[in-house]
Amino acid sequence: MEIVLSGIRPTGDLHLGNYFGALRNFVKMQDDYKCNFFVADYHSLTTHPHPEDLRINVKKILSQYIASGLDPEKSTIYVQSDVPEVCELYMLMNMNAYIGELERTASFKEKARQNPDNVNAGLLTYAVLMACDILIQKADKVPVGKDQEQHLEMTCRFARRFNNIYGVEYFKEPKAFSFSKDLIKVPGLDGTGKMGKSTNNGIYLIDEDKDIRKKVMKAVTDSGPTEPNQAKPEVIQNLFTLMDLVSDRSTIEHFENAWNDCSIRYGDLKKQLAEDIIRTVAPIREHIKDIYNDDAYLERVAREGAEKARVQAAKTVKEVRQIIGFK
Ligand code: TYM
Repeated sequence: MEIVLSGIRPTGDLHLGNYFGALRNFVKMQDDYKCNFFVADYHSLTTHPHPEDLRINVKKILSQYIASGLDPEKSTIYVQSDVPEVCELYMLMNMNAYIGELERTASFKEKARQNPDNVNAGLLTYAVLMACDILIQKADKVPVGKDQEQHLEMTCRFARRFNNIYGVEYFKEPKAFSFSKDLIKVPGLDGTGKMGKSTNNGIYLIDEDKDIRKKVMKAVTDSGPTEPNQAKPEVIQNLFTLMDLVSDRSTIEHFENAWNDCSIRYGDLKKQLAEDIIRTVAPIREHIKDIYNDDAYLERVAREGAEKARVQAAKTVKEVRQIIGFK
């Protein structure tokens, strides 16, 4: 059976970008693959979270995973820092990762630009740790959004390089995965690129119906089409992209036609979009409320998940040590 692995950083509540880019695929893969889904808490340390915030955010992600449909009976669900074997692999793989390629990573350049006072070594080697998360479990498929594509390419490069240096066929090259034709990029509501946690342009799985309506009604639009069948500007295309994710075919066609014959009313489109988003979010939100306060249950899920994940992790590290030449 093929192995699937993916993770999300605990930096706040999950938004529709996380859900449609990653989480929804995790849920759909559980019956057909051996799945590992983890909370990437080591990765979140690059921004030095307060210990109490870190603890709360890990708990949030765990409960939002389960509320979205991840089933601990089917999948191995764990917290990255409960599997410390990854740290040894990370240290070893750092020996084969070059400063130049790490500095050229798009996510590193973006974070360094956003926070010039906190360009730490963990940020530089972020892609190495992510590669180790994947390689330590021998994953074949990695469900992620478009923004993680380069990290997956680097994972393959690190795997190949290790194999070449030691003359082995040890690590396999994992593939970024999505059920749609391409990896997904969910747009934000402010018309400026992707939905993100730090950009305040998102709809979260814990948002109440009234907040979702308010946010969607405030989404950026333009003054409307002036000619039939004209190309959509980015802000409008973003709303249609969201509709593609949450609405029925007939609803999408109705608004496509209205765009094409210039009769579209953005207010109607937004009202419909908000209701369709609510249809996705509301059941998950209600489930989150039940799970979040059940500490004993969440602790058991994490403990049992880590026990399972550590078996393969320890095996990989042992084999890598042997390949490298340690006794
Ligand atoms: P993170 O925490 O930034 O995002 C988690 C997942 O959500 C996806 N995502 C999106 N997809 C589409 N549109 C968006 N607007 C959007 N925003 C977020 C991301 O693509 C990602 O799949 N480095 C990873 C965490 C990680 C990981 C791993 C993932 C650590 N180790 C190993 C896979 C395998 C990250 O920061 O994701």
